[in-house]
Amino acid sequence: MVSFSSRVPNRLESNRLASARAVAGEIPYDLSISNPTVCGLPYPDDLLSELANPDGLRYSPDPLGPVRARRAVSDAYTQKRIHVDPDNVVLTASTSEAYSLLFKLLCDPDDTIVTPTPSYPLFDQLCRLDGLRTHPLPLDPNDDWRPIFGATDTAPENTRAVIVVHPNNPTGSHIHPEDGATLAKICRDRGWALVADEVFLPFVLDGGPGSETSFASRNDVLTFTLGGLSKSIGLPQLKLSWMVVGGPGDLVTETLDRLEYIADAYLSVNTPVALAVPHLLAAATTIRSAITDRCRTNLETLRSMAASLPAACVPPVGGGWSAILRLPAVLDDEEMAIRLLTERGVAVQPGFLYDLPTEGVMVLSLLTPEPVWRAGLEEIFDAVRGWI
Ligand SMILES: Cc1ncc(COP(=O)(O)O)c(C=O)c1O
Repeated sequence: MVSFSSRVPNRLESNRLASARAVAGEIPYDLSISNPTVCGLPYPDDLLSELANPDGLRYSPDPLGPVRARRAVSDAYTQKRIHVDPDNVVLTASTSEAYSLLFKLLCDPDDTIVTPTPSYPLFDQLCRLDGLRTHPLPLDPNDDWRPIFGATDTAPENTRAVIVVHPNNPTGSHIHPEDGATLAKICRDRGWALVADEVFLPFVLDGGPGSETSFASRNDVLTFTLGGLSKSIGLPQLKLSWMVVGGPGDLVTETLDRLEYIADAYLSVNTPVALAVPHLLAAATTIRSAITDRCRTNLETLRSMAASLPAACVPPVGGGWSAILRLPAVLDDEEMAIRLLTERGVAVQPGFLYDLPTEGVMVLSLLTPEPVWRAGLEEIFDAVRGWI
């Protein structure tokens, strides 16, 4: 009899909300869309023209990705006044893949990664798929989601890295510069690597301390700064991400050699897409501004509508594509999301999916087309008024 790896859970059935969505069919007001390519955003018609560049007909594998693309990523940092050597840029097919390469670089099976909570729900799965455990770094809801560093004291001996998401998904909170320095010190003292996921950094909404600061400028500790086309130009289907390796010189050199060894086993970077990176990043401004404008407008609409419902509240969103809506906790999150879906045709994500700590908390995607957003919010607030 075949025995499967415990990296994949034995029970794979959907949760109640996912099952309700499966039977709901078309959803009139989907306020949970995370796919930017179906939100009516104005992608320039010629955005993908460089994919036909005949240079892409020649396969000349480089484990870290074609140097032309790595230079373009480095130039993008230069525009933000951060010096990144193209040799310190490693391309991957996605941010998820970047995590997997880093886990292989830093960890043995059963080692531990410190992950922020609440945050991107995929971390547990990504760690488990690489045979790793997680230890939480709680973010304080009563202190602008700043990390509660005391929790790192109880991280096990076999901890190898700490991940931060800057700005975090879904809280929108940036890592405060003082907290970045504290994290770097903790990592130095304990021999951990620092992994900063900055996929949403180009999208500043309310802003705040840290919103202008990238971890790519850190050189006091081994730091991996992650970004990619899936968010920065809203094209997840291109499958092109990067990590910037920073830190003390000798350590960076050895790290890059080891990363090259791992990446060479997969060679997963797509040549035509990588060759198009200079063109894509140069054209990014239009689509990035359109996404930022959409998110800002939707956030404003949400705030003005929430103001009419006592006990509803929208915490500040430093940056990113999500907003948290706190509603009166008349039902638990999952029940509320299911009833909004089945009774009102509105899809939202309940906060528990992100480990958000209180009941009545919904996560909404600010990417939603504006008329759908407004109509969906009207349904939500009308439903909640009826439940109070
Ligand atoms: C914080 C964060 N990191 C990474 C990703 C995934 O990025 P990619 O599509 O490059 O794997 C997401 C996707 O939503 C995300 O929220």
